[in-house]
Amino acid sequence: MVLKDIHIVGARPNFMKAAPVVQALVERDARPLLVHSGQHYDRALSEVFFEQLHLPQPDLNLGVGSGTHATQTAALMIAFEETFAEHDPLRVVVYGDINSTLAAAVVAAKMDIPLAHVEAGLRSFDRTMPEEVNRIVTDVLSDLHFVTSPEGVDQLAKEGLSGGGVHFVGNPMIDTLVRFRAELDPEPVRLSLGIDGDYAVVTLHRPSNVDDPAVAASIVEGLARVSKSIPIVIALHPRGRKVLEEAGLGENEGIHVIDPLGYLEFMSLMSGASLVLTDSGGIQEETTILQVPCLTLRDNTERPITVTMGTNRLVGTDASAIAEAAERALVNPPTGTAPPLWDGQAGRRIAEILIDDQRGLP
Ligand code: UD1
Repeated sequence: MVLKDIHIVGARPNFMKAAPVVQALVERDARPLLVHSGQHYDRALSEVFFEQLHLPQPDLNLGVGSGTHATQTAALMIAFEETFAEHDPLRVVVYGDINSTLAAAVVAAKMDIPLAHVEAGLRSFDRTMPEEVNRIVTDVLSDLHFVTSPEGVDQLAKEGLSGGGVHFVGNPMIDTLVRFRAELDPEPVRLSLGIDGDYAVVTLHRPSNVDDPAVAASIVEGLARVSKSIPIVIALHPRGRKVLEEAGLGENEGIHVIDPLGYLEFMSLMSGASLVLTDSGGIQEETTILQVPCLTLRDNTERPITVTMGTNRLVGTDASAIAEAAERALVNPPTGTAPPLWDGQAGRRIAEILIDDQRGLP
């Protein structure tokens, strides 16, 4: 069957969400056109994920790259408008909450192309986060909402978005973890770093944490205290490296600063960790499934189910709060259970709904 859909991906967290959906469509002979915006272009943030996740190579890479929010979003919109005009898709499918998601949503809506949003309904209620603005705008413009967690359905209803277009399907990012879980092995990365025993894993990339030197210094101080109890490995996103290093991140023997890892290497490292400290959204979900305690270095989360059902705790960015929470989590690790439908089948559910819904389109 020809499904004349365009699926948009652009940055690292999109790839693990799109892979199971695209795979399920391919298995049903309904391979969509896969368009990479080029928002992420470093091999470590992009290409390596296509290889490891067996995601088909994108049919188009628009090569948009980095910029301020306005510059990047404008360039994305121009590129999407040209692409949609040329390929005349029946539907546009977007993932997550990055600038590529927002730009494709706005362009599709203006060109009167039906829009589907995978990972709809998440809200941090913090509009200083660029992703929150992206989520709200994308949801309001979408015709089909694929929701990962029950509270997302309630939230969409509060915003007047309910009815036949809202589908609670589970979490496609967790599909990818379920698929590769048996291959995860923390030993090679651990040994290559000379760590013999327990360790903690850290990631940091949110602008609110890594662009402001005072916040970055507080986090680095908190991590230095944690590293007195347990060695830390931090896989550092290129954004923020300079500010974090200026705050003294590289100067502590107990903190191993490494480059971003591929999906399998990073999940392997995380699967063997005693503790994860992060400001990422996806990692809050993945640690819940891996049953690894997670401390989120933010004041809010758009994924509250990882706290109510999972291993996640909100800690903020104060150095003492980070150190105390880490101590508590190491002595008495939080446990949890998998949220409903985080069962490895979300991609299949989404694919079946997309195929079914297509029958109603002109
Ligand atoms: C983007 C998403 C964020 C997501 C993150 C995952 C938005 C608003 N943010 O943040 O939600 O959690 O991806 O990584 O869309 N850079 C590189 N190489 C690259 C890409 C970026 O070095 O391949 C550096 C550049 O200095 C760039 C900066 O990172 O200016 C920010 O990149 P950008 O794509 O704007 O946002 P991220 O911080 O990566």
